[in-house]
Amino acid sequence: MRWPKGLTGLCYGGDYNPEQWPAEVWPADVELMRRARVNLVTVGVFAWSRLEPQPGRYDFDWLDRVLDLLYDGGIRVALATPTASPPPWFSLRHPDALPVTADGTRLSHGSRDTYCASAPAYRAAARGIAEALADRYRDHPSLALWHVHNEYGTTCHCEHVAVAFRAWLRARYGDLDRLAEAWTGSFWSQHYSDWEQIRPPRTTRYLGNPGQLLDFRRFVSDELLGAYVEQRDLLRAATPDVPVTTNYVLGGWVPVDHARWAAEVDLVAIDHYPAEAGPGAEEQTALAADLARSWARRGERLRRTGRAGQVGATGHIGLAGQVGATGHIGLAGRVGATGHIGRGGQGGRGGAVEPASVDGSGGPAWLLMESAPNLILTPGRMHAKEPGRMIRHSLAHVARGSRGAMFFQWRASRGGAEVFHSALVPHAGPDSRAFREAVSLGGVLDRLAEVDAGTVRAPVAIAWDVASWWALQSTVLPSGQLDYLAEVSAAHRALSRAGHTVDFVAEDDDLLGYALLVLPALYLLPDRYAARIHDYVAAGGHLLVSYFSGIADEDARVRTGGYPGALREVLGVRVEEFHPLDPATRLPLSDGTTGRLWAETVRLTGATPSVFYAGGLLDGEPALTRHDYGDGVAWYLSTRLDGDAYRDLLARVAEAAGAAPTCPTAPAGVEAVRRGTAERSWLFLLNHSAEAQTVPVCGVDLLTGDYADPVRLPAGGCAVLRETADADPGRRSDA
Ligand code: GLA
Repeated sequence: MRWPKGLTGLCYGGDYNPEQWPAEVWPADVELMRRARVNLVTVGVFAWSRLEPQPGRYDFDWLDRVLDLLYDGGIRVALATPTASPPPWFSLRHPDALPVTADGTRLSHGSRDTYCASAPAYRAAARGIAEALADRYRDHPSLALWHVHNEYGTTCHCEHVAVAFRAWLRARYGDLDRLAEAWTGSFWSQHYSDWEQIRPPRTTRYLGNPGQLLDFRRFVSDELLGAYVEQRDLLRAATPDVPVTTNYVLGGWVPVDHARWAAEVDLVAIDHYPAEAGPGAEEQTALAADLARSWARRGERLRRTGRAGQVGATGHIGLAGQVGATGHIGLAGRVGATGHIGRGGQGGRGGAVEPASVDGSGGPAWLLMESAPNLILTPGRMHAKEPGRMIRHSLAHVARGSRGAMFFQWRASRGGAEVFHSALVPHAGPDSRAFREAVSLGGVLDRLAEVDAGTVRAPVAIAWDVASWWALQSTVLPSGQLDYLAEVSAAHRALSRAGHTVDFVAEDDDLLGYALLVLPALYLLPDRYAARIHDYVAAGGHLLVSYFSGIADEDARVRTGGYPGALREVLGVRVEEFHPLDPATRLPLSDGTTGRLWAETVRLTGATPSVFYAGGLLDGEPALTRHDYGDGVAWYLSTRLDGDAYRDLLARVAEAAGAAPTCPTAPAGVEAVRRGTAERSWLFLLNHSAEAQTVPVCGVDLLTGDYADPVRLPAGGCAVLRETADADPGRRSDA
C-alpha cells in the first residue's frame, strides 16, 4: 500500500476549499490542478457548517460532486474531518463546549478553534461528523488519506477540563502525597487534601506553581491526543487501508508533544510557515523538516516495537499501569537493564538505523502538509517570496524526507479572515507568476519521483524535549531571555552551517547511532535519560552540553549539589552559580570569541578547561571544558557563542567525533542534503545565496536531466543530483 493510498511519486497540492466557491468554479479548479500536476488536495477542513447545517442533518451532495470531479481529474483526496471549527448552532446549543481562558473568559464562536476537547458534547459531535464522513466516503476511489481536524492546539480551563485534569493527575501520581512532592506543595501552602480541590492553572494572584503548569501542558497534549485517537480509530475501522493523520502546527504556544503523537499518526504531517523573511526562513525550514523526519522515525519505531496505541478506551492517556515509577508515561520499564534500546553498531555512526517505511518507500513517512506558496508572514507584514524561493523551500523539505510539498491553499479566498493569505491560484488568477511557479513546481516534483525511495541519514543529533521547552516558558527562571527554541535553533543552525544534516532524538532513541549528540538547554532530565547519556559517552559517543541542561528532574525540581545536576559526572564539572547577562553584554573569551546571554562559575571535577572567560567577574574561569569519559568525550559550554564561533566549535567537535559533513566541498550559502538507498543516492544542492555558486561534485541533475560536473547553481538555484559511484561521464545514459 502506498501512503497516501493510491498515489505514486511525491505528493503535490494543498488545502482545497470548494465550499467557498460557486460550483461553476470547480471544474476550472480541476483543470488548473491538472495543469499544475497536482495529485493530492485536502478537502473539507473547515466545512462543518456546510456539511452539517443543522444538528444531525447532513448535506453531502456538494462534496460528492467535488470528490467525483477530483477523481475524474486524477486527483486524490486527503479528506478532512472539520472538527477544528464547530458550526455556530453547535456552540449555541452547547455553550459549555466553548473554551475558557485562564482568566475565566468563555470565548464565543465567530472564528475557528472554539472548542473544548474535554467537553463531552464536543467529543460526541466530533465523532458524529467523522463517522458520517466515513460512512459516506469509505468506498470513494479518490480517498487517499484521512486528515483529522486541523492543527490541534486549543487550550481550555473550564470545569470539564478540571475533571479531566484530575483524572489525568490521579493516573500519573496515584496519591496526593506523590502529587505534593512533584508540585512542591509545601511551598506557599499548596497541599491538596482532596483531588476535587485541584483546578487547571487559572489566573491567580501572583506566580503560579511551575509543577502544576508543566503537568497541565502535558495533560493538554494528552487530552487533545485522546480526541484525535477517538476519530482515528473510527476512521480506521471504516477504512483499514486508508492512512490517518493530523497536521501538526509548530510554534512556542503549541500545547502538543509532537514526538509523542508521532506513534499515533500513520504519517507525520507538518504545517510550516517560516516567521522570518531573510535567511532565517531557510534555517527554520531545515529545522522544521529535520524535526518532522525525526518524529516520523520515532513514531515508526514505537509502532514497530509495539509501543504505540497507549491511549485508553476513554480517550485518555496515562491510565493506571502505563505510568512508570518515575512518572513518565508509557516508557518506564520498557528500556533494557543498561538503558539501551538497540545498538548503533547496526548502522555505524552514520545516524540511527531507520526502519523501512510501511509501504517500502525510503524512511519513515512524513509530509509537508501546508506551507505558503508565495508569501512569508512576519508579524505585521506579508513578504512576497522571490522567484524560485517557493521551489527551493519545497525542495528543502523533500531533501529531508518529505513525501511531497503541499500548500495552504489552492485558490485564494475572496473574503474571510485569511483573505490575503497566499495561494497557488492567487487573486490575480492563473495568469500570474504565482501560478506559473506552481506549474513549474509540479514538473519539478514529477521529475523527482525516484527520490522518494531514499532515506536521510544524519551523523549528528540534537536532543528535543518539549517538556523542557514548556518548563522554560516558566516565569520563575534566572533569566527571561532563556528561550528553549532559540537554544535548539542555534545548535541546529550551527551544525547545518557546518554542513551536517541533523536528527532530533528523545530519551529512548538509539543514541549510539550518532557520532555527536548535542544537548541545548535540556533543562529537565529524568534519571534514566541521564543514565543513557552517560552510557552513550562511556561507549565512545561525543557529547556537547550547553548551559541550563540537566538542572531539574521531570517534575522540574532542581537537583541539588551543583549544576548541571544529572550531568555533573559525565561532564566532569560542577557549576556553583549562574550569571545571566544583560542582552547587550558581550563577554570576551580567551580564544578571541565572545559569550553572551549567560555565564557560569564552573568548577572542574575532572574536565580540562579549553576556553576561559577573559576579563570581568569570571576572568580566568573556564567557559568551555572537555572531559574524556570512558571511550568518549563530553564538552560543556557555559555561555552562548555567536553564530560563527558556535558553527566553528561544532564543526571541530563533530569532526573529532568522526562525523563528516554531507558535502564538504559545498560553499557557504549552499545547503547540501543527501537521500539514499543501499544502491544509490541523491544529493540536493540548494543555493540560498544571492550569488552564483559552483560545487565540485558530479551526477545527473534530475531537474534538468543533464549530467553536471561540476554543478553550477545560479543565485537561488537548485540541483538534485543522482550521484554516480565515480565521475564517469559514461553514466550520462542514466538520465
Ligand atoms: C495554518 C492553517 C490554515 C491557515 C494557514 C494560514 O497552517 O492550518 O488553515 O490558517 O495556517 O497561514
